[in-house]
Amino acid sequence: MNFDAAYIRRLAKAKHVDTDNLPTKEEIERKFVEMANSRLARQKMRRYYSDSVWSGNIPIRFEFSKWDIAKQTDPSRAKNLGKQAFVLAKQMEMQNFNVAMMGDRGVGKTSLALAMMDYLMDKGRSGMFVSTAELLRLVGDKYDDSSVAAKLHDIKRSMTEVDVLVLDDFGTEGGMTGNIKPVHKDLQDLMYQVSNARVDFENNQSRGCTIITTNNTKQQLKQMYEGKFIDRVFPNNPKHQLLFEGMKGVRNV
Ligand SMILES: Nc1ncnc2c1ncn2[C@@H]1O[C@H](COP(=O)(O)OP(=O)(O)OP(=O)(O)O)[C@@H](O)[C@H]1O
Ligand SMILES: [Mg+2]
Repeated sequence: MNFDAAYIRRLAKAKHVDTDNLPTKEEIERKFVEMANSRLARQKMRRYYSDSVWSGNIPIRFEFSKWDIAKQTDPSRAKNLGKQAFVLAKQMEMQNFNVAMMGDRGVGKTSLALAMMDYLMDKGRSGMFVSTAELLRLVGDKYDDSSVAAKLHDIKRSMTEVDVLVLDDFGTEGGMTGNIKPVHKDLQDLMYQVSNARVDFENNQSRGCTIITTNNTKQQLKQMYEGKFIDRVFPNNPKHQLLFEGMKGVRNV
């Protein structure tokens, strides 16, 4: 076939290609780099999420639209908590900071943390969920099973790099209230290294967002972990703390 200029012009016309406005080589290259970068970002997003550590290995999801204030004994408080979580999630689209959700069992802490993660992943930020108790189990198993060590290596890397990290049921690994013990040294080390990597010390700001849900107070957490680590992950700003105290659990209702 003869690809002469006249043929190409005819072909372009037939295909409605405007030959006067073709992209330049630089534009094509830029577009190519943009597409490659966004493909890489999508791959990373999938990898981080799939490195999530779920309780009993069962992934769970929750969205803000499912937050039902009538399910709690104090609906007006439930409404405010839902609103606060939504406002924080919106801010986290552009800013990095940590959030703590504190309160009794079954009051909806994990649900709202999942809703925030779901919202942010929808906006293109990467998300990962880590059940702290399940992570402790993995840390304990790594000496018996070499595949667990490799898995933990990937989990740790994802926990370090992901935009939005949910640390669920943080503190259960320290035992029951009234009988709080320091956490397993290996888990302490892992958490400490992850939290260090998630801080930009030069600019004194957070590298990503960490959302923790816990039944414990900050003081109790300090009995389980090194104080420096807790000071790093636990937000001081009261606006970044969601207090669920006094709300009835809805489990089994
Ligand atoms: N306001 C609500 N609207 C809809 N579902 C809710 C609400 N509050 C709680 N639930 C449901 O109740 C169950 C318990 O909630 P969730 O796991 O979020 O509580 P939690 O505070 O994380 O509890 P725990 O301290 O035991 O981890 C979940 O199935 C959750 O979806
Ligand atoms: Mg929970």
